[in-house]
Amino acid sequence: MAVYLGQKAPDFTANTTKGPVSLSDYKGKWVLLFSHPADFTPVCTTEFMGFSERYEDFKKLGVELLGLSVDSIYSHIAWLRDIKEHYGIEVPFPLIADLDKEVARAYNMIDEKTGTTVRGVFIIDPDQKVRWMIYYPAEVGRNISEILRVVKAFQFNWKNKLATPVNWEPGQPGIAGAPSTLDDSFKRDKDGSERWYLKRVNA
Ligand code: BEZ
Repeated sequence: MAVYLGQKAPDFTANTTKGPVSLSDYKGKWVLLFSHPADFTPVCTTEFMGFSERYEDFKKLGVELLGLSVDSIYSHIAWLRDIKEHYGIEVPFPLIADLDKEVARAYNMIDEKTGTTVRGVFIIDPDQKVRWMIYYPAEVGRNISEILRVVKAFQFNWKNKLATPVNWEPGQPGIAGAPSTLDDSFKRDKDGSERWYLKRVNA
């Protein structure tokens, strides 16, 4: 199934390591939904520890994390127990057991070659619209700092109605929308804009 930016995030109810969860329960909150190929695999294990270690950073931004793979709930429980026992890291967010692949298919997370999930990441806004999606291959682990930076950019945009420029970091100016009429473009010549089509604004 196709999923595209700006669409209403497909709702679901799923079994997780913290009991049943529905996406609609999270209305009004930012959600980070992410999938991994398989429990007990090396890169995924480092990612789960990475997401857990930065959990408080997501919490401070009001972001709810939801992991997902097509493994069973028993596999998830065994894997999270193993991570706790061997690394002392408790995974504090729910992990969806999407055995029937219903959620994975709705978000186009299935690698058709292997039948498992890809490394998908989705940012869902408080109106439950899909704002960002990115897919990583099995051999490249995600960068949690970059995911946090993108969340902050969306929250900056949500609050200030400004876009963010290349390599934007919190505290830096945003970018106002480009003028849509010739007259508005001439107004930009007089308001100190860098170019008539590029105006940086401090929030
Ligand atoms: C991993 O290390 O996460 C991984 C290994 C093989 C296939 C998929 C994932």
